[in-house]
Amino acid sequence: MENLNIIILAAGLGKRMYSTTPKVLHLLAGKPLLEHVLSTAHVLSPQKICVVYGHGNETVPNLIRDKQVIWVKQEPQLGTGHALLQALPHLDKKGITLVLYGDVPLIKAETLRKLISGVSEDSLALLTVELDDPLGYGRIIRDITTKKIIEIVEEKDTNKDQLEICEINTGIMAVSNINLHEWLPKLENNNAQKEYYLTDIVAMAAKSGKRIEATHPLFTWEIFGVNSKIQLAMLERTYQKNSAKKLLEQGVTISDPSRIDIRGQLDFGKDVEIDINCIFEGIVKIGDGVKIGANSILKNVKIEAGTIILPFSFIEDADIGKNCRIGPFSRIRPGTILADEVHIGNFVEIKNSNINTGSKVNHLSYMGEAKIGKKVNVGAGTITCNYDGVNKLQTIIEDNVFIGSDTQLIAPVKITTGTTIGAGSTITMNTPPEQLTLSRSRQRSVSGWKRPTKK
Ligand code: UD1
Ligand code: CA
Repeated sequence: MENLNIIILAAGLGKRMYSTTPKVLHLLAGKPLLEHVLSTAHVLSPQKICVVYGHGNETVPNLIRDKQVIWVKQEPQLGTGHALLQALPHLDKKGITLVLYGDVPLIKAETLRKLISGVSEDSLALLTVELDDPLGYGRIIRDITTKKIIEIVEEKDTNKDQLEICEINTGIMAVSNINLHEWLPKLENNNAQKEYYLTDIVAMAAKSGKRIEATHPLFTWEIFGVNSKIQLAMLERTYQKNSAKKLLEQGVTISDPSRIDIRGQLDFGKDVEIDINCIFEGIVKIGDGVKIGANSILKNVKIEAGTIILPFSFIEDADIGKNCRIGPFSRIRPGTILADEVHIGNFVEIKNSNINTGSKVNHLSYMGEAKIGKKVNVGAGTITCNYDGVNKLQTIIEDNVFIGSDTQLIAPVKITTGTTIGAGSTITMNTPPEQLTLSRSRQRSVSGWKRPTKK
């Protein structure tokens, strides 16, 4: 919006988090609270975004990289009105300002659009809700006869009757800049908390005959803030329940929508199935018909159609082709690219490796810095010895190689096309093509040998 300024209040201490991390940097769905608010703010395409920060000093602007943000420091913190006053010099002369809280992460852009539409010099818009338990919130005071809003009274300043009011101030409001420039410098702190209350501008607006409009969010949870770890955990569940619902609506099969965590972005094809307790982090893309087994963790992964991930697999920064079978208990580490129809089995670790079509590493193996061709079979317990203590070294395994169990490949080394490696070998040199290569001490038996007996 052309003439929209947004101020995000984020200077509060967050004492009840009992943490050295500033409150707005605590994570919800893997992302700092403040980033959730910023993402929503950007959806409204504002002219300016000011974030008022204080506690934790520079950690907040240092950690949140957002080019549009104008960082405004509030030190000391003398209330929400005082916070806005710090940002006032950065606001446009005209237009409107939307006030958001850095610790209210689930507010929806749709709700905000409704709130700001129609705000002018003659009006002020408040986001309010009716709560069964209004404890702790500022109460919306309406004229008994006209029902018009006349002021907001903070809970600590309420009288007995006002305390009973269930319509509360969410703190989110939209005001024209002309009025803000006029009202903010007039705020006083003669109240129970000796703070400069932003909410006092509501009485000023009423007295000068402005229209005060109350709009409501689509969902009550949108307005909940994070003051404690309990509230953080509750909002996390709300967020996850919503993401699961959205996925179900779009046709993803989820065994239990209360046991899935999306900490980033999940793109998916048709007929995708996700079993319980899976975590998706960063950007994850899964193709048609992909099945993800229980207790798997996928972080920045692309998986193509028809691939099956069996339970307890952990896959990070990897590309996986079509019709692969991974797991159970596979660990696929960054830099791994698997082509189609690759099988990775239990207790196998793959790191920074390329594995071509139809190859299999099915049991108890480690492949690091490996380039593996087509139709290769890597036997149980095969290890690429890729590290000499200083450098990472490459192992090349060409097409149609068969590696017997319990083999060590001492990198750098190349296993040429069609090689068969006898089980139990330690391979230190490149192999010739299409031959059996093995390194093994000859088997012998000692006749007459007796097992020791207990003395
Ligand atoms: C405020 C509202 C109250 C509303 C409630 C909703 C005022 C005076 N009261 O109360 O009507 O029901 O929010 O949660 O506005 N902050 C700063 N600098 C400060 C003080 C606060 O940046 O000096 C920030 C906080 O980080 C937080 C937000 O403003 O994000 C609200 O502060 P908080 O102390 O939670 O407000 P309340 O007093 O609870
Ligand atoms: Ca609060």
